[in-house]
Amino acid sequence: MKRIKITKTTESRLSEIDFDNIPFGRTFSDHMFMADYINGEWTNLEIKPFGYFTQHPANLALHYGQSIFEGMKASKDINGQPLLLRPEMHARRMNASAERMCMPTFDEEIFLDAIHKLVELDAGWIPPKAGSALYIRPFMFAADEFIGVRPGDVYKYIIFTGPVGNYYSTPVKLWAEEKYVRAAVGGVGEAKTAGNYAASLLPAKLAKEKGYDQIMWLDSKEFKYIQEVGTMNLFFVIDGVVITPETDGAILKGITRDGFITILKDKGIKVEERKISIDEVVEAYKAGKLTEAFGSGTAAVVAKIADITYRDLLMDLSNSENKIGTLLKSEIDGLRAGTIKDTRGWIVPVKQSVEAEG
Ligand code: COI
Repeated sequence: MKRIKITKTTESRLSEIDFDNIPFGRTFSDHMFMADYINGEWTNLEIKPFGYFTQHPANLALHYGQSIFEGMKASKDINGQPLLLRPEMHARRMNASAERMCMPTFDEEIFLDAIHKLVELDAGWIPPKAGSALYIRPFMFAADEFIGVRPGDVYKYIIFTGPVGNYYSTPVKLWAEEKYVRAAVGGVGEAKTAGNYAASLLPAKLAKEKGYDQIMWLDSKEFKYIQEVGTMNLFFVIDGVVITPETDGAILKGITRDGFITILKDKGIKVEERKISIDEVVEAYKAGKLTEAFGSGTAAVVAKIADITYRDLLMDLSNSENKIGTLLKSEIDGLRAGTIKDTRGWIVPVKQSVEAEG
């Protein structure tokens, strides 16, 4: 396996951090990983102090969008041991995104090695509070200095980290969108690529102006079947059955979503991955059978849905006890804190290797 060169910071910013006040995505730890794809191979593998880097104005990714990312988290168990949750799933999904976006894949073993080393070096940045975590953001983009439309020949792979609290601090109000689409089957909705998020910004802004927090995306053909929220996958509890839209190429294959399905099955709670139409949700709501809805994601973990508005119908779930969502959140928090035994091989302790390598 290729060796990662490590240069440690001489000016840690750790003492400046207030762990009681860590808004999502604004605080960054001391180190980052970088690698370059040149002449058909990944090279210059390096962990170094977090900081700026320069790019050419003709950077290919900035013009045509070959840019992908992941989101994962490290936590500490009650004994202070840093842990990762299913890191190999993120390595795999990053490569699946790369393939869809016509970008080179990255050796999954080196990806995991880089994550272990980064988290080990910046373990002090893992917030102590239950539910908080060190967010890990791997990303890759084309770095050619060229504005012809073609896949890049040169890429940059970067991983940085930062402490985070809750992504959503209050229950989420959703607007079921019937004009704009996030992704169509056959498009890039399943890839974690920058453009999917860009596509959501205008409709989300318009929804915010109407008082909603996020958009509930519907399918692009009929505006009938529920997809996801963009920052989260969705789950509905109808008549005691947990239902989540099946992934069809236009929906992100959430790793938290996958974990929740497994946990629910293990607990004997009926869970279905299938098409779910907005009409089914409306009907269930009107019949008093829609007892709960929640979003799932790495950043959000579990976010209670306060209400869903479809046309002129507001489906108010704010009084829902959110039993299933709460159960899943405590399961994930317990696994991350080591207070719930990991019987599925999901929890990976961060290796101690940096000092030994010098
Ligand atoms: C994550 O949950 O990690 C994501 O990537 C969603 C992001 C938009 C915050």
